[in-house]
Amino acid sequence: MTKEEFQNLAKREIEEAKKEVSQVVDESSLNAFKGKYLGKKSHLTSYYALMKEVAPAEKKEFGMELNNLRSALSELLSAKQKELADKALAEKLEKEKVDITRPGYHATLGSKHPFYAVIDDVTDFFLGLGYTVADGPEVETDENNFELMNIPKDHPARDMQDSFSLGDNLVLRSHTSAVQARVMKAAKGVGPIKVICPGKVYRRDNDATHSPEFGQIEGLVISEDATFSNLLETLTLLLRHLFGEKREVRFRPSFFPFTEPSVEADISCFECNGKGCALCKHTGWIEILGSGMVHPNVLRLNGFDDKKYRGYAFGIGIDRVAMLKYGIDDIKRLYTDDVAFVEQFRKE
Ligand code: DAH
Repeated sequence: MTKEEFQNLAKREIEEAKKEVSQVVDESSLNAFKGKYLGKKSHLTSYYALMKEVAPAEKKEFGMELNNLRSALSELLSAKQKELADKALAEKLEKEKVDITRPGYHATLGSKHPFYAVIDDVTDFFLGLGYTVADGPEVETDENNFELMNIPKDHPARDMQDSFSLGDNLVLRSHTSAVQARVMKAAKGVGPIKVICPGKVYRRDNDATHSPEFGQIEGLVISEDATFSNLLETLTLLLRHLFGEKREVRFRPSFFPFTEPSVEADISCFECNGKGCALCKHTGWIEILGSGMVHPNVLRLNGFDDKKYRGYAFGIGIDRVAMLKYGIDDIKRLYTDDVAFVEQFRKE
């Protein structure tokens, strides 16, 4: 083969390769191109085999022509490789583009149900005074709910709490006072005890201010030096914490089978400041809770020496506090699954 013949051959090869490389669009067509023009079975490789037949004097020049052809083909390949890599990068950048000017999504904030807001608020208050939180079941024994609370069978005081009987001496607990019995028995006659017990209770009651299902927070303190004035001070602080520092607190004598003496606490009406309005039924006072010194019978029945130990207890209606604090007029509103109702209490 003459030099000119080879140069023509090489020229045609390059032209063909140029045409073909323009069709390359991806990794696999690129590899096919590479194999065809630069691989073992390429024309190029077969031209190298021709070297044997070239006269020694022409070998050098022929070799240069061959190398020129190889670099021309390699350049086509690497230019295409770069073009494909650039294209892939551009596509990736386009796909991953973040529009930092786009407005965010609006996340709806949940809000606490007023029933649990009251529990949390009262619990926080008592944790700050060193109380712990105790718990008991809603299905309770007649013994814990009544007898150990100094309410024997056939005693008229049972009528104060019209309970749901479940038979087999079980009731839906009618007050969280039942947890008092559990806590005292677990302490096995050794004080001090300082607990609150929030939870659901059940009674056969049903009107705008009474629901068969409602909530109470019980408090129980037993120690060798618990006094009546400790009780009054604790409750005064609690009621001012809940209803404002300006509230007057009044204690009235009352009766509960499990306490002696017993008192009920009222606050001065926050609506009319004591002048008299519909909320306080024109008395100027709002009744809030019951309490008293733990009855010696209750101490003894639950394993405590009533000569050594003294105690005080109180019971707060969660619903009543929630209704007063949040201006809710029907207790049933607290027991519906109405999201719009709860949303009213969202703190924005
Ligand atoms: N258990 C009472 C009720 O359900 C509330 C109560 C009154 C609890 C006086 C007490 C208390 O611990 O000392 O009406």
